[in-house]
Amino acid sequence: MNFTFRQLQVFQAVVQHLSYTRAAEALYLSQPAVSMQIKQLEENLGVALFEQQGKRIHLTEPGKEFDYYARRITQLVDEVDDVVKDLRGLGHGRLSVSVATTAGSFTTRLLADFAHRYPQVQISLDVTNRETLYRQLENNECDVVIMGRPPATLDLHAEPFMDNPLVMVAPADHPLAGEKAIALARFASEKFVVREAGSGTRRAIEQHFADHEVPFNTVMEMTTNEAIKQAVAAGLGLAIVSRHTLELELRARVLQQLDVAGLPISRQWYMTYMRGKRLSPIAEAFREFVLHNAARFVAP
Ligand code: PGA
Repeated sequence: MNFTFRQLQVFQAVVQHLSYTRAAEALYLSQPAVSMQIKQLEENLGVALFEQQGKRIHLTEPGKEFDYYARRITQLVDEVDDVVKDLRGLGHGRLSVSVATTAGSFTTRLLADFAHRYPQVQISLDVTNRETLYRQLENNECDVVIMGRPPATLDLHAEPFMDNPLVMVAPADHPLAGEKAIALARFASEKFVVREAGSGTRRAIEQHFADHEVPFNTVMEMTTNEAIKQAVAAGLGLAIVSRHTLELELRARVLQQLDVAGLPISRQWYMTYMRGKRLSPIAEAFREFVLHNAARFVAP
């Protein structure tokens, strides 16, 4: 069986008006065009759908059967149309966000607020390392990525939206805790607990020490900021971490922020996606939300 949706629409107009002429007017077609569509439809189906009685036309028995299915098909098509419109809108759909490890702390708070605004949207968050973020961007595996300075090797749309100050932390009872503007050189023989190679934070710290020609000694690598903070509190060494990860420890006085000359190291957070990617409406709403509200979700 082979007929077009257009033929179905013409058929329904003729059923509604029981006149080729009036159906043609309703469809802005000529009367012969309507007759031609019905003739082709009848040929395709192999049955007559209408019969002429005097000046009037009527549905044949096969025509009545076909009419029943034509209505059901049209209803389904209307339903598809509604669903697709809904999907295009903001009410439903999915949002997939990937963020650098360090951005995980404020992004979770930020997403909690965003999720309250769009309760029907399914949101997923991947907190991961930079290499995975690059792969996800390249393979279009998520809607947007939040990371530190993005790599020049990817053709990205990248918007900076918030400062990311890196500060030095020590255990609460550290002897340098009360001092002001401590020279970086004083840390030349200290040991630091650091993130894994490839971490944006790690790279920024190494660069800072190199720029000031101060040796940078590490005692242990860890893949999360949580582990680093625990290690510092336990006396394993010092660390430089994003202030955005420290709120609770500073308030609970588990850690101290040291006043080091030239710190904080200033980095920025970027909202990124591949250039040319078309964001879904909900991803676009999230992007706007982050650009204008992110500062509310970190300690001042
Ligand atoms: P990181 O990323 O968690 O990989 O260190 C943060 C940043 O790039 O500043």
